[in-house]
Amino acid sequence: MIPLSLAQIARVTGGQLCHGDPDAVVSGEVVIDSRRAGPGGLFAAVAGERSDGHDFAAAAVAAGATAVLATRPVTVPSVLVADVPAALAALARSVVDALPAVRIAGITGSSGKTSTKDLAAQLVERLGPTIAPAGSYNNEFGHPLTVLRADAATRYLVLELSARGIGHIAYLCRVAPPRYGVVLNVGHAHAGEFGGLDQVARAKGELAEALPADGVAILNADDPRVLAMAERTEARVVTFSSAPGSDAPVRAVDIRLDDLGRPSFTLLTPEGSAPVTLRLHGAHNVPNALAAAALARELGMDLDGIADGLGAAVARSRWRMEVHQRPDGVTVINDAYNANPESVRAAIDALAHLAQGGRAFAILGHMAELGGTSRASHEDIGEYAARIGDSGLAGLIAVGEEAAPLLDGARRVRSWTGEALAAPDGAAVLELLANRLKPSDVVLVKASRAAHLEGVAAALEGEAGQ
Ligand SMILES: Nc1ncnc2c1ncn2[C@@H]1O[C@H](COP(=O)(O)OP(=O)(O)O)[C@@H](O)[C@H]1O
Ligand SMILES: [Mg+2]
Repeated sequence: MIPLSLAQIARVTGGQLCHGDPDAVVSGEVVIDSRRAGPGGLFAAVAGERSDGHDFAAAAVAAGATAVLATRPVTVPSVLVADVPAALAALARSVVDALPAVRIAGITGSSGKTSTKDLAAQLVERLGPTIAPAGSYNNEFGHPLTVLRADAATRYLVLELSARGIGHIAYLCRVAPPRYGVVLNVGHAHAGEFGGLDQVARAKGELAEALPADGVAILNADDPRVLAMAERTEARVVTFSSAPGSDAPVRAVDIRLDDLGRPSFTLLTPEGSAPVTLRLHGAHNVPNALAAAALARELGMDLDGIADGLGAAVARSRWRMEVHQRPDGVTVINDAYNANPESVRAAIDALAHLAQGGRAFAILGHMAELGGTSRASHEDIGEYAARIGDSGLAGLIAVGEEAAPLLDGARRVRSWTGEALAAPDGAAVLELLANRLKPSDVVLVKASRAAHLEGVAAALEGEAGQ
């Protein structure tokens, strides 16, 4: 972070300095986890469900933090504020304003934000010092904390913007106003909370609306709700597409997947074409790569650099389409990070592709936050799983009671010969699979975050099998 004195922090946040030297300087990281507090840093105390950060204020200062951002008095140097996220937002905005040379990109969409942000960051880093969040640091805490890592050396911020409601993205865009905005797709993630896809589109489009006239809106031409956002921005619009016959300026043609589902394609841009092979798994990473390419291109990267960078980019965030080949010949796809109808379909597509020549099993948990369409959405996914490939999945395991409609949907497919299995929890999944898996079988593990199926995936990955 750029060095700020406690007096400056108090002024920017409208807070009150307590027990501290106004000239003491914060130059280290701003954190909300006291265990990560370090020399010269600022610890923001947040009251969570299980613990209250204020109880760790002294420990953070003992670990070297210059001060604590707090909402009630603590015994160590602190800036007392009314609202910690608002204070972090104000601080982040002041850092952005102090660094006018930094170019800011925001990435949003219902699925693929983190994957695209990780791809884009790995391209943009080749152009100069870049700050991008770790994992999904994309909300009212993670976003300002990421922005606060910027300093005088920083040239680019590549940010992931998430929304659970109208106004959230507009808010994040005020914290760090992007000049480049990428919108990937409008899908059912959190659609229940939003009240339908049109509301999701309204929310995601706030990124397009926030862009200035000299900015660039990078929109997915293959998603009509995203393309329609062109009407909602003053910025220049650049589209990308992986659909056959598209005339989008940035597009992929000749898309193929290798045995492990890694896409190759020809990247077409106005400057020419270049072959790309991704290290990431799943056809859904093609639009993600195109979005990253379009952004890097706007930032001045040449076509060869983009193609080379995409080919070198690795998965930086865990539990997204991790493909693990066991010594006994079973392949495990760990996609346990999150689940919504679009991302489960994408993962089932990848599963079916990997399982050519073997059997496919899907272990699926509940998709959260779908609202009134939840049951129908689960049934549709079950049906999709039963129809995929030549004969559908060999086995569909629904984990937990809420996931049971998946099985009802699969059973709708009369011709399906696979097994529909219910498991109350992860341990039951492992038991069901113990005698079933054979060499060349492929197993997908996917659910919403709350289901914590990554433990099941880890257990499956570690199992040598017989
Ligand atoms: N462009 C996409 N379209 C559909 N599904 C996708 C896309 N990109 C990723 N996914 C799926 O969504 C999961 C989560 O991806 P992630 O990049 O973490 O998205 P987000 O940050 O938006 O939650 C992936 O593991 C994959 O199954
Ligand atoms: Mg994410």
